[in-house]
Amino acid sequence: MISEQKENIEQKKVLFSAIQPSGILTIGNYLGALSNFKELQSDYKSIFSLADLHTLTVKQEPSVLRKNTYELAALYIACGINPEESVLFVQSHVPAHAELCWILNTISYPGELSRMTQFKDKSSKHEDNINMGLMDYPVLMAADILLYQTELVPIGADQKQHLELSRDLAIRFNNRYGETFKIPDGYISGTAARVMSLAEPSKKMSKSDSNLNAFISMDDDKDTIIRKFKRAVTDSDNKIICSPDKPGISNLLTIYSAVTGLSVEQAEKEFDGKQYSDFKLRVGEAVADTVEPIRTEKNRILSDKDYLDSVLSEGAQRASALAYKTLNKVYRKVGLLQRKRG
Ligand code: TRP
Repeated sequence: MISEQKENIEQKKVLFSAIQPSGILTIGNYLGALSNFKELQSDYKSIFSLADLHTLTVKQEPSVLRKNTYELAALYIACGINPEESVLFVQSHVPAHAELCWILNTISYPGELSRMTQFKDKSSKHEDNINMGLMDYPVLMAADILLYQTELVPIGADQKQHLELSRDLAIRFNNRYGETFKIPDGYISGTAARVMSLAEPSKKMSKSDSNLNAFISMDDDKDTIIRKFKRAVTDSDNKIICSPDKPGISNLLTIYSAVTGLSVEQAEKEFDGKQYSDFKLRVGEAVADTVEPIRTEKNRILSDKDYLDSVLSEGAQRASALAYKTLNKVYRKVGLLQRKRG
């Protein structure tokens, strides 16, 4: 029985995803990523990473980065990632990521990296700190993914170009050195792309928005959430329907449907003939009902650092075992001498 179960696990496809521990996560991140992870984890051999090395490509306050890393680990678990079922680990705890990144650097070209949309965006935002890491960001991301022979990568629409590069590098390496990496596919969740700013619904909801009312953080309390929804921008008439010329109302309906599990049509029916103010209050309450228990659970987990440390150390060991299988193969293929690890 046990060996049968084990065999089933071996047959599952590998899913890899990572989030940077760089501070606030919004309900957009939750609805687009974390909430899906919980459902995906039983169907795939799931590996979730905290991409701390990636965060260093923009300036970080060391003590804040440490705090954010614990916060994100606790949040993953509070959102339903079971660290015994899935592998949950900190990227920097598995040196194979940096090691494979180096090898992939030798088949990556400055031209293709400097053309990346995110590199161009971040370079213009951080003109005082355009460092090599910023340009190399997608190569490290490719290393993250390829180390685990990943088949599926759930990503936000903004990471599509990076996933494309991961595929290109895998194919390039395989062509040059022989079959080594699986070619990963992206999985873009429906809601991920659709949670928009509450203040300017034509823009994506972003944690770095200078208008704090434009986004809901997973750390907002109930009163704050309701207040922000009350202020959310709506549209000129008073119909509560989803339509391209009503971006504000459409966004609220999408959020409501994502947190309640109702379809948008069911939500439209529920609010037929209602006032905008009642509708916004109800959306705020529904979002708070989703966020509050997660926030409470996250803070409970966060207060037990020993537990978190042991989860992350166990996760790093399990991740290492998988990662070094691939890295050893890569080193052998490129002609590096086999190294002994003790
Ligand atoms: N760059 C991703 C983001 O900001 C985070 C990330 C790092 C990632 N490594 C990854 C996502 C590997 C998927 C797979 O969203």
